[in-house]
Amino acid sequence: MAKTELENRWSLHGATALVTGGSKGIGQAIVEELARLGAKVHTCARNQQELDKALQHWQSLKLDVTASVCDVSSRAEREKLMEKVSSLFDGKLSILINNAGTNLVKTALEFKEEDYGFLMSTNLESAFHLSQLAHPLLKASGIGRIVFISSC
Ligand SMILES: NC(=O)c1ccc[n+]([C@@H]2O[C@H](COP(=O)([O-])OP(=O)(O)OC[C@H]3O[C@@H](n4cnc5c(N)ncnc54)[C@H](OP(=O)(O)O)[C@@H]3O)[C@@H](O)[C@H]2O)c1
Repeated sequence: MAKTELENRWSLHGATALVTGGSKGIGQAIVEELARLGAKVHTCARNQQELDKALQHWQSLKLDVTASVCDVSSRAEREKLMEKVSSLFDGKLSILINNAGTNLVKTALEFKEEDYGFLMSTNLESAFHLSQLAHPLLKASGIGRIVFISSC
């Protein structure tokens, strides 16, 4: 297959994406891959300094990436994030990647009530609620897709 045909098949030019937890790890790799394929990407994380460092790196690669601070375990911050995404992408989102997640390494018997709440709001509730919030934007794009990053 000619290279241009392959490139066209995988092009994301014109697409928009929100990747949660993109300042490092798997999320950062996803941000870069989507942006290299031509998508406009927005990402978030809690730590502003790490986001700024990642943004500098993406700017040096001339990738079309924006970022804002958001703790996805907070309902109010999730709502604020989706408002930002809607205004950045003119109300249209092609791809939502629910990637932000964390873990507490302890045995089930050691888990306190707040540990359980922290994990559930970060890993599960955030993905559910962000998908709900993104629904009108995904529909408006005409090609909306949601990807959940999970674990075994
Ligand atoms: N790496 C693995 O082997 C592995 C295995 C199984 C599943 N996973 C899943 O894959 C996903 C990514 O894992 P990773 O290894 O790449 O993790 P990582 O290196 O720890 O990166 C996590 C990213 O999510 C952000 N994040 C964490 N909590 C957040 C919150 N409450 N709100 C907003 N952003 C938040 C982090 O930034 P801040 O800390 O600044 O917020 C960071 O950008 C997670 O869902 C994880 O459960 C990973």
